[in-house]
Amino acid sequence: MSFMIPPRRSLRDVFPYQPGKSIASVQRELGLKSVIKLASNENPLGPSPRAAAAYRRQEKLLALYPEGSSPELRAALARFHRVEAESVIVGNGSDELIRLLCEAFVEPEDEVVVSQHAFIRFKQQAAMMGARVIEVPMTDWTHDLELMAKAASPRTKLVFVANPNNPTGTYNTQEEVSALLAAVPKTALVVLDEAYWHYAQSIPGYPKSLPDLVRAHENLMVLRTFSKAYGLAGLRVGYGVGDPELIGWLDRIRMPFNANLPAQVACVEALKDAAFVKRAVALNETQRALVARAMSDLGFGVGESATNFVFARSPVPGRELFKALLRQGVIVRPLDEYGLSSHVRVSTGTPAQNKTLLKALQQVLAVPA
Ligand SMILES: Cc1ncc(COP(=O)(O)O)c(C=O)c1O
Repeated sequence: MSFMIPPRRSLRDVFPYQPGKSIASVQRELGLKSVIKLASNENPLGPSPRAAAAYRRQEKLLALYPEGSSPELRAALARFHRVEAESVIVGNGSDELIRLLCEAFVEPEDEVVVSQHAFIRFKQQAAMMGARVIEVPMTDWTHDLELMAKAASPRTKLVFVANPNNPTGTYNTQEEVSALLAAVPKTALVVLDEAYWHYAQSIPGYPKSLPDLVRAHENLMVLRTFSKAYGLAGLRVGYGVGDPELIGWLDRIRMPFNANLPAQVACVEALKDAAFVKRAVALNETQRALVARAMSDLGFGVGESATNFVFARSPVPGRELFKALLRQGVIVRPLDEYGLSSHVRVSTGTPAQNKTLLKALQQVLAVPA
């Protein structure tokens, strides 16, 4: 017997997303007790304590369905960003919103413009809809928004810009983003994915997207997430802010209960936990600089990063380094799927985790301590 039903044509070349390797799988496979994960840009401080406390309080309500449209979280986000609640949608991670955008707007053969080495989910998701994905070269490891604007045509439905970008860690300025918005046809939606916003927002010239740019451009959607600075990657909550008409379409096609009950409640509290976010951002700032300097001393080509990770050219092939570090109980991210086989991405850890990382790197590269 063999399975005879072909999937949709546009799915035939689809390759699955490769998430960072989990601690449990490394422990299982290599028989290691102590493993640290610096592979998925999570918050090394753990979850926002306010959010975690709210999460625990939901236990008694787990038998009930949540409210499907996350009304309280939506309202809290609207207040937080000084926009209308109708301009906000909550997703099962911002990842779900990337999917919904493609499902809502991309017909087979429509064009979707992305940058080379941009967050890979953009092109994966667009390809699933049968889009023609136009990949525009980077300049200095940064999205070239001028070239991306030139690549946009009347057939273009979506232009994805991760700002800052994962995995390169680079960002685009307000001036560049505004020029892109002025140049693309109004029939193309610009999606500004600001998953790492907290780590970049204080950089001079970094865009003020919420509420300013979104209010000024009906063809702009901004995505943010609770997975990074709030430390809630496991809850799976992201959100988007854009024109109410656009939000209405996404709302119509999302899963009826896409954000679960404890997630909705915990994220309302996370928004109030400015002290935790401040601590996370400050820790990232000092520790990322320390790791970047040490890796540079070890022979890595380290780029500037506006995020909570270091992007670096490795002195040995990325996958070899990844495997050797695994044996030392340290998980980093090789970047072959991005066409970057000489590079690795290393998330900022706690001081203790970073010490372990640097010791493991010395060992693997056989550098005398
Ligand atoms: C640029 C970018 N966008 C979106 C996401 C997805 O985040 P979420 O956990 O909200 O789905 C990530 C996750 O690493 C990311 O790096």
